[in-house]
Amino acid sequence: MANVRRHVHKLISTPGRGKRPVVLLALVVAVGLALLTGCRSDTNYKVLSFFFDGVPQPGATNAAPAQVAENTAATTNTVSPNKPVVPLNLKISHPPFVAGNCAACHDDFSKGMKGPLLTVCFTCHDNFLAKAKAKHAPVESGECMDCHEPHESVNKHLLKQTGTALCLNCHDDPLAKGKFKHDAVVNGDCLDCHDPHASANGKLLKKAIPAACYDCHDDFTKGKKDVHQPVSDGDCMSCHEAHASNQKGLLIKSSPELCWTCHDNFLEKAKFKHDPVEDCTSCHNPHNSNEANLLAKPEPALCLDCHDQKDLDHVKAHAGVAGKSCTDCHDPHVGDNANLLKPVTAKPATAPAAK
Ligand code: HEC
Ligand code: HEC
Ligand code: HEC
Ligand code: HEC
Ligand code: HEC
Ligand code: HEC
Ligand code: HEC
Ligand code: HEC
Ligand code: HEC
Ligand code: HEC
Ligand code: HEC
Repeated sequence: MANVRRHVHKLISTPGRGKRPVVLLALVVAVGLALLTGCRSDTNYKVLSFFFDGVPQPGATNAAPAQVAENTAATTNTVSPNKPVVPLNLKISHPPFVAGNCAACHDDFSKGMKGPLLTVCFTCHDNFLAKAKAKHAPVESGECMDCHEPHESVNKHLLKQTGTALCLNCHDDPLAKGKFKHDAVVNGDCLDCHDPHASANGKLLKKAIPAACYDCHDDFTKGKKDVHQPVSDGDCMSCHEAHASNQKGLLIKSSPELCWTCHDNFLEKAKFKHDPVEDCTSCHNPHNSNEANLLAKPEPALCLDCHDQKDLDHVKAHAGVAGKSCTDCHDPHVGDNANLLKPVTAKPATAPAAK
C-alpha cells in the first residue's frame, strides 16, 4: 500500500515519457480522426460512451499499429485527447483513475498505453510474477484486461466477471469431464484452490498437494500404523482426479487397473483366482491401516466377513488350525492350486487339493 502511494506520487510529478515519434504519429492519426468525426464535444462524448459500452471505436484500430509494435495489444485503445472520461461511478473504482491520474497508465497525448501493461501495472503493484514458479499464461503475457477492468467495475478486484464464469471464458468446464464430481469444485470456487496469477506450486495451486487436500480432508499419514507409500509421498494425484471423474471416488481408473499402474498384475497368469480378488478395496484400505499390508481388518475377521465359520468347520483340513492365520495355508489373491492353497500346504494335502 505504502509502495503504491509512493509510486502514485512519483508518476504525478514525472513528465510524460511518451516516445516522440510514436506521439507524433498518434497525433497525426488523431487529427485525421477528428476531421472524420467532427470536433464537436457531443461527438466526443458519444465516442467516449461508445468506449465504455465496450463498442470499439471504428477508427481506433487504425491508430494502433504505430504503437502496437512498441507496446502490448492493449495499446489499440485510443481516445480523443484532452477530454476527461465521465466516470460511471461503479461500485469499485481504481484509485488512480478516480484521482484523474490518467498519465499513470496512458500516454499523455494519444491516450494509448504508455507501455506494456506488465510495466505499467507493476509500477504501483507488487510484481507477483517475479518470484513465482508457475505463471498463468494470460498474466505472464500481460493480458491483465482479459480479466480486469482498468477504471471501474461492478465486481470486487475490478474483475470483468466473478467466480467460475471468469475462468470458463477460456477453460472447458472441468466438471464436465466426468459424472462423479468433486464437491469442492461443485460448491466452491476455482480460487479456493488456484491462484489467478501465479504460484510457487505447479498448476497455480495456492498450496502444494497434499496440504491443499488436507485443508478439508483428514490427514491420512496421521494416527495409523501403516501408510500406503504413494500416500505418505503426498502423491494424491497418482490415483485421483482433482475435479471430476467417470470412476467413483474421483479415481483416475477403477481398481484393479488403478493398482496395476504401480503393482505387477498378478491376475494375468493366475490359474486359480479368489472370487473377490478384483475388488482390491474389499480387503485393502487405499490410504492407511493399523494392520500390516493395509488390510481393512485383521485376520481371521477379514475372511470371516464373507466366509461362514460353520462352513469352515466342515472342512477336515481345518481341524486344529485354531491360532493359525488363514494366509499361512491360503493365498488371498491367486494360486496354482485349488482352494488357493499355498505350495507348502498343497504338497502334503489331501487328494482334491493336489489337482
Ligand atoms: C490504472 C491504469 C489506467 C488509468 C489510471 C487510466 N486508464 Fe484508461 N485505460 C487503461 C487500460 C489498460 C485501458 C485499455 C482497456 C482495454 O484494453 O480494455 C484503458 C482504456 C481507456 C480508454 C478506452 C476506452 C475503454 O474504456 O476501453 C479511454 C477512453 C481511457 N482509458 C481514458 C482514461 C482516462 C481519461 C483516464 C483518467 C481519468 C484513464 N483512462 C485512466 C488504463 C488506465
Ligand atoms: C498509479 C498507481 C497504479 C497503477 C499504475 C495501477 N494501479 Fe491498480 N491500484 C492502485 C491503487 C492505489 C489501488 C488500491 C489499493 C490496492 O488495493 O492495492 C489499486 C487497486 C487495484 C486493483 C483492485 C485491488 C483490490 O483488491 O480490490 C486491481 C485489480 C488493480 N489495481 C489492477 C491494476 C492493473 C491491472 C493495472 C495496470 C493496468 C494497475 N492496477 C495499475 C494503483 C495503481
Ligand atoms: C485470468 C484472469 C486474471 C488475469 C489475466 C489477471 N488477473 Fe488480477 N486478479 C484476478 C482475480 C480472479 C483476482 C481476485 C483474486 C482473489 O479474489 O483472491 C485478481 C486480483 C488482482 C489484484 C488485487 C489482489 C492482489 O492479488 O493483489 C491485482 C492488483 C491484480 N489482480 C492485478 C493484475 C495485473 C497487474 C494483471 C496483469 C499482469 C492481472 N491482474 C491479470 C484475475 C486475473
Ligand atoms: C484469458 C483466458 C484465460 C482465463 C480467463 C483463465 N485462463 Fe487459465 N489458462 C489460460 C491459458 C492460455 C493457459 C495455458 C494453456 C493451458 O494449460 O491450457 C491456462 C492455464 C491454466 C492452468 C494450468 C496452469 C499450469 O501450470 O499448467 C490453471 C490451473 C488455470 N489456467 C486456472 C485458471 C483459473 C482458476 C481461472 C479463473 C480465475 C483461469 N484459469 C482463467 C487462459 C485463461
Ligand atoms: C479442490 C481444489 C480445486 C478446485 C476447487 C479447482 N481445482 Fe483445478 N486443479 C486442482 C488440482 C489439485 C489440480 C492439479 C491436478 C494435477 O496435478 O494433476 C488442478 C488442475 C487444474 C488445471 C490444469 C489442467 C488439469 O486439469 O490438470 C486447470 C486448467 C484447472 N485446474 C482449472 C480449474 C477451474 C477452471 C476451476 C473452477 C471451475 C478449478 N480448477 C477448481 C484443484 C482444484
Ligand atoms: C475446499 C475443501 C476441499 C478441498 C480443498 C479438497 N476437497 Fe475433496 N472433498 C471435499 C468435499 C466437501 C467432499 C465431499 C464430502 C466427502 O466425501 O468428504 C470431497 C470429496 C472428495 C473425494 C471423494 C469423492 C467421492 O465421490 O467419494 C475425494 C477422492 C477427494 N475429495 C479428494 C480430494 C483431493 C485429492 C484433494 C486435494 C487435491 C481434495 N479432495 C481437496 C472438499 C474438499
Ligand atoms: C493408491 C491410490 C490412492 C492414493 C495415492 C490416494 N487415494 Fe484417496 N482413494 C483411493 C481409493 C481406491 C479410494 C476409494 C474410492 C471408492 O471406492 O469410493 C479413495 C478414496 C478417497 C476419499 C474418499 C473416501 C475417504 O477415505 O475419505 C478421499 C477424500 C481421498 N481418497 C483423498 C485422498 C487424498 C487427499 C490423497 C493424498 C493424500 C489420496 N486420497 C491418495 C485411492 C488413493
Ligand atoms: C480377499 C481379500 C483380498 C483381496 C480382495 C485383495 N487382497 Fe491383497 N492382500 C490380502 C492379504 C490378506 C494380504 C497379506 C498377504 C499375505 O499375508 O500373504 C495381501 C497382500 C497384498 C499386497 C502386499 C503383499 C504382496 O503380495 O505383494 C499387495 C501389493 C496386494 N495385496 C495387492 C492387492 C491388489 C492389487 C488387489 C486387487 C487386485 C488385492 N490385493 C486384493 C488380501 C486381499
Ligand atoms: C502410485 C503407485 C501405486 C499405486 C497406484 C498403488 N500402489 Fe500399492 N504400493 C505402492 C508402493 C510404492 C508400495 C510400497 C512398495 C511395495 O511394497 O511394493 C505399495 C505397497 C502396497 C501394499 C503393501 C503395503 C504395506 O504398507 O504393507 C499393498 C497392500 C498395496 N500397495 C495395495 C495397493 C492397492 C490395493 C492398490 C490399488 C487400489 C495400490 N496398491 C495402488 C505404490 C502404489
Ligand atoms: C469379500 C468377500 C470375501 C472375503 C473378504 C474373503 N473371501 Fe474367500 N471367497 C469369497 C467367495 C465369494 C468365494 C467363492 C465362493 C466360495 O467358495 O465360498 C471365496 C472362496 C475362497 C476359497 C476357496 C477358493 C477356491 O478355489 O475354491 C478360499 C480358500 C478362500 N476363499 C479363502 C479366503 C481367505 C483366507 C480369506 C481372508 C484372507 C478370504 N477368503 C476372504 C469371498 C471372500
Ligand atoms: C493349516 C492350513 C489351513 C489353514 C490355517 C486354513 N485353511 Fe482353509 N483349507 C485348507 C485346506 C487344506 C483346504 C482344502 C480342503 C479340502 O480340499 O477338502 C482348505 C479349504 C478352505 C476353503 C474351501 C472350503 C470348501 O468348502 O471347499 C475355504 C473357504 C477356506 N479353506 C477358508 C479358510 C479360512 C477363512 C481360514 C482362516 C480362518 C482357513 N481356511 C485356514 C487349509 C487351511
